[in-house]
Amino acid sequence: MSRDEDIEKFTHELQVQIMEQIRKRYSQTVIDHWQNPRNFRKIENPDGYAKVKGSCGDTMEMFIKVKEETISECAFQTDGCGTSIVCGSITTELTKDKSFTQALASVGPGEILEKLGGLPEADVHCAHLAAETMRRALADYLYQKRSF
Ligand code: FES
Repeated sequence: MSRDEDIEKFTHELQVQIMEQIRKRYSQTVIDHWQNPRNFRKIENPDGYAKVKGSCGDTMEMFIKVKEETISECAFQTDGCGTSIVCGSITTELTKDKSFTQALASVGPGEILEKLGGLPEADVHCAHLAAETMRRALADYLYQKRSF
């Protein structure tokens, strides 16, 4: 076996080991959103927006667009950990196509954790950050609507 083939084999084995460790700690839903985050982008001229700094120091932004009192589009960005990306991603899925009332009732940390099949205790604050950011983006929309 050449050196390159040896390195290739070593890298592959390492990736397999890392994925095994990840599968022990995280559900398939978490891994899916981690590997393929949904709505991880900005929305220009959003109807509602919030940027929140979590207890860990990471920040998350949420953007929403509203059509006929329904969340027609939502997206997020974060400079946080992998789990914050997972939580932001699932939060946008929980919110999209919902009415305001439904959205407010669906974006608590409990709903995020339930939808993800749970998270290790050390990562639970990432769900709180995503929920709080979405809640404030929804509130921002309501506030702006009231002002005009
Ligand atoms: Fe900061 Fe996850 S560690 S959001």
